Amino acid sequence: MLPTFDTETGVKKFLAAGLGAILAVMIVTVSSAAPTAGRQEELVNLVKHDCGSCHGLTLKGGLGSALLPKQLSERPDEDLVAIILEGLTDTPMPPWEGQLSEEEAAWIVQLLKKGVPE
Ligand code: HEC
Repeated sequence: MLPTFDTETGVKKFLAAGLGAILAVMIVTVSSAAPTAGRQEELVNLVKHDCGSCHGLTLKGGLGSALLPKQLSERPDEDLVAIILEGLTDTPMPPWEGQLSEEEAAWIVQLLKKGVPE
């Protein structure tokens, strides 16, 4: 028997294939946005030295407030990413936009929330 053309099944298959393709693209985009291992090492050093110069070498606070998991774990990621990229007006917290991409700032936020390794 010849298969009859069933529009509904056809549309469902088409949608499923389309969704699959979109998901695949999203997964590739997300994984390629994560900093490479070498860049991650640079970012850890940047956090310890550059951020540490104001926030304290162990990030317990100095000129800038403490950046430990205790202080940051409840804060929304996007707020912290925005602070890092844009800085805080009326405070010495500088914008890092020129030096860090949004993905890198997001990675730093996760690092700070987990706690920077000694
Ligand atoms: C020139 C000094 C300086 C440097 C360098 C610096 N900060 Fe800051 N940062 C500050 C100050 C001052 C504040 C405001 C603290 C306050 O509100 O009391 C601040 C605030 C913040 C906040 C918000 C904290 C909160 O609890 O609201 C985050 C997050 C932050 N800095 C992350 C970073 C990161 C990440 C880096 C490195 C990429 C960095 N800072 C580098 C001075 C600095």
